[in-house]
Amino acid sequence: MVVFQPCGVRGKIEDGATILEASQQLGADIESICGGKGNCGKCRVRIERGYFAKYGIRSKIASVAMIGEANEKFLSKAQLKQNYRMACQTLIHGDAVVFVPEESRQGRQVVRKEATLRDIKLKPAVKKYFIELKKPTLHNNLGDLERIQAGLAEKYKLRNLTIDYPILQNLQNIARDGDWKVTVSVWNKKEIIDIEPGNAPKAYGLAVDIGTTTVAGYLCDLTTGEVVATNSMMNPQVAYGEDVMSRISYAVKGKGGLKQMNRAIIKGVNQIAGRAAARAGIKRTDIIDFAVVGNTCMHHIFLNIDPEYLGRTPFSPSVHHSLNIKARDLGIKIAPSAYVHVLPIEAGFVGADNVGVLIAEEPYNQDEILLIIDIGTNGELIMGNRKKLLSSSCATGPAFEGAEIKHGMRAAPGAIEKLKIDPKTGEVQFKVIGNEHWNTEVNNISARGICGSGIFDAAAQMFLAGIIDKGGRFNSRLKSPRLQKDGGTPEYVIARKEETTVGHEIVICQKDIRAIQLAKGAMYAGARIMMKRLGIDKIDKVILAGAFGSYIDKESAAVIGLFPDCAPENVYAVGNAAGDGARIALLNTDKRKEADVMARRVEYVELTIEPEFNSTFTRALSFPHADDEFPHLKRILNNRRKK
Ligand code: FES
Repeated sequence: MVVFQPCGVRGKIEDGATILEASQQLGADIESICGGKGNCGKCRVRIERGYFAKYGIRSKIASVAMIGEANEKFLSKAQLKQNYRMACQTLIHGDAVVFVPEESRQGRQVVRKEATLRDIKLKPAVKKYFIELKKPTLHNNLGDLERIQAGLAEKYKLRNLTIDYPILQNLQNIARDGDWKVTVSVWNKKEIIDIEPGNAPKAYGLAVDIGTTTVAGYLCDLTTGEVVATNSMMNPQVAYGEDVMSRISYAVKGKGGLKQMNRAIIKGVNQIAGRAAARAGIKRTDIIDFAVVGNTCMHHIFLNIDPEYLGRTPFSPSVHHSLNIKARDLGIKIAPSAYVHVLPIEAGFVGADNVGVLIAEEPYNQDEILLIIDIGTNGELIMGNRKKLLSSSCATGPAFEGAEIKHGMRAAPGAIEKLKIDPKTGEVQFKVIGNEHWNTEVNNISARGICGSGIFDAAAQMFLAGIIDKGGRFNSRLKSPRLQKDGGTPEYVIARKEETTVGHEIVICQKDIRAIQLAKGAMYAGARIMMKRLGIDKIDKVILAGAFGSYIDKESAAVIGLFPDCAPENVYAVGNAAGDGARIALLNTDKRKEADVMARRVEYVELTIEPEFNSTFTRALSFPHADDEFPHLKRILNNRRKK
């Protein structure tokens, strides 16, 4: 028997399962950014000792056994003595009460994926047609389907329509219920996928963006293009691993991992469909069309296709082209005969989400050179214009998502999301998610950690304030009560203990700065290599796509050197462009075709095999860069140099 506290969930667990596996089975909330591989150090829990009358069990440390090296790596001797263990690297062999400290709880991620206002031309795949039929008589006893086909041909010039079999089964009743007046839903001018009695002109479709961390759904009126409801949630697969690689390894590990993750996402998408429909005052089965984007791994798991080969060179996906699959075959509970349109994928890690960005931003229709950066757990880049387009992806690591950062966390309430450092005094002003005030304006700011956008700001502000140098090293000559050492390594206090709810200060340490340098260096190097391929030395516009891109500070991103120099007024955040791409594909079949063509036209650059990648990357580790010029940042950087 295992009991998790403070949430109180409990249940019987098979001998030899890890504490993390037990938490997943029982629905307890434990952070597992690395998917249980013992790398992230976020799943720290404490085994309670003693008899718990409420549960009728005696919990003791002998009930668990440590495996692997993560326990020694992430826990001090004192913590081990206090019965702290890493949940993913500790097996259960007996009754235990497990306490999950606040910092090891996932918390509810704030899902920031609102639909952006875009002008989308309407040409949906599913259209509704109202027809009045002649009643059958003994002299004209044509079949009901043939009667409908003839009516559609006569009034709307629709010919050679087929019908989905389940619709045929109920056709006779519907025709009579509607007194021979019916509304027919036709998919792609080819197939009858619904028949309703009477005149029912409204039609709805759902566009879904399956991100590694969040899933967002946009319910649209197919007759007006309007978004009538949105709903989003954390990707339920997060429990099986935070990033794409940990999901792939979870699927590959066997034990039904793929099935588990597929079920989780299908259930999640159904929930989104249900909630959005309820909000719009319709039934889930009124949703008659569906378009979906996701990175290659999310795409495969959604389709219940083994993602194993995505994780191995040459990273080939199972399919490149777009797909139309019956919703019922995937377990998606909308109108049973509806199709799910899955957007095409480009290459390896550049998936349908990137194609979504592509058709939303249309760099292929522009003269200016665009750099589109989609920052997520994986960084994706598109560069070029109407003449040529390149794409690449780079492993930024999970630093921007708050993982592998000493006090990093996801964008959940209590996460420091914005901060400023006074260059003269070194004092820090910050804001946390869920509180509109700065820490200097209120008493109980209750910070729990620092999330991606806060990490960006922290690195940029520490650099501008001279706390770290160009190479990312802490300035040892700096005199500041906020500069301290932990085990010999320097760290800077962002939130004082009394400003947090986790019982300690929130700091940025040397290792955190290195993680940010590695992540931003990879993005910058990717952009540089693509520029070289295109034979250009400047970019005209930078587009920050992705929910995260909307929340980072543009100046901080420029100061740390996330991308090569660009005029600040030409750096835009466009929100969730991948989700917008799904919506565009839902509402316009020409854009579906365009997506198929463009996905094939974009040339994929595999950065890891570029001979220059290492040297370009090493030079890109500096803030903002070892030797590149940043004329547009000059004033800010010059002030910094004078100090
Ligand atoms: S170290 Fe346990 S989940 Fe990452």
